[in-house]
Amino acid sequence: MKSILITGAANGIGKTIAEHCGKAGYRVGLLDLNEKPLNDTAGAIENAVVLKADVTRPEDVKAAMDEFGTPDTVVNNAGIVRFGPLIEQSIEDFTTTVNINLIGTYIVAREAAHRMKAADGGHIINMSSINSVTPGPDAGAYPATKAGVAQMARQLAIELGDHNIRVNAIAPGFIDAGMSAPIYEDEKVRNQRAGAVPSGRLGTAEDIANAVLYLDSDNGSYINGHELIIDGGVVHSLLAQLPRD
Ligand SMILES: NC(=O)c1ccc[n+]([C@@H]2O[C@H](COP(=O)([O-])OP(=O)(O)OC[C@H]3O[C@@H](n4cnc5c(N)ncnc54)[C@H](O)[C@@H]3O)[C@@H](O)[C@H]2O)c1
Repeated sequence: MKSILITGAANGIGKTIAEHCGKAGYRVGLLDLNEKPLNDTAGAIENAVVLKADVTRPEDVKAAMDEFGTPDTVVNNAGIVRFGPLIEQSIEDFTTTVNINLIGTYIVAREAAHRMKAADGGHIINMSSINSVTPGPDAGAYPATKAGVAQMARQLAIELGDHNIRVNAIAPGFIDAGMSAPIYEDEKVRNQRAGAVPSGRLGTAEDIANAVLYLDSDNGSYINGHELIIDGGVVHSLLAQLPRD
């Protein structure tokens, strides 16, 4: 049975990825900060293992992988956003965002990669964002961390290819789940955002879970060092948004 360890699995996109991987027959490690929501998620998944850990703490991450065993695949999904103009953010907002999104991703990837090398193979997927390629209003430190997460995937891909380890990134767009769900409670914002997407709708957590399953399948086996943008085409639609006679 193939195993997958998903960070930030208690809520939002990570939770949906965990549920889909469970249905697809994986043994699923659900890693997050708090046990209660993790247990709720794990309850509906066959072969789920609850791993209470903070991705910013190397000792937590090591203990989680000691307990779970070397995962075949890791989804580095835990992340936060602190909204506000970049230079108005507190240093605490900036460093916390960097610590969780960038350094936490590194800590998990590093621990997994050493184990995967010993196991002669594996796959790491970092969750970036369309903010890795385009900045956004009031996005604070978030775009910088997401650009880092995507570049880290490329760096690891060139370092680990010889060990039969692939490393990719997924960049979700306007996703109606998790940290963005409150934004889309406003009908006007919802319609404006959906209307700006060439595919004509907001994305779902299922869209991202499907991308994970595809990248991790035999059909995706030659995809390495790639950032897969899952956004209905919105990030590259600037010229279509401009008025013209
Ligand atoms: N929702 C979106 O629109 C969207 C768009 C692009 C990218 N993303 C990315 O997708 C990922 C998941 O986002 P989401 O929307 O599901 O957010 P979410 O807030 O619903 O879930 C994030 C999870 O990460 C966990 N987490 C936070 N800090 C942690 C830590 N230190 N250690 C372990 N777990 C921690 C939280 O407890 C939470 O369960 C994030 O990396 C986010 O940046 C989301």
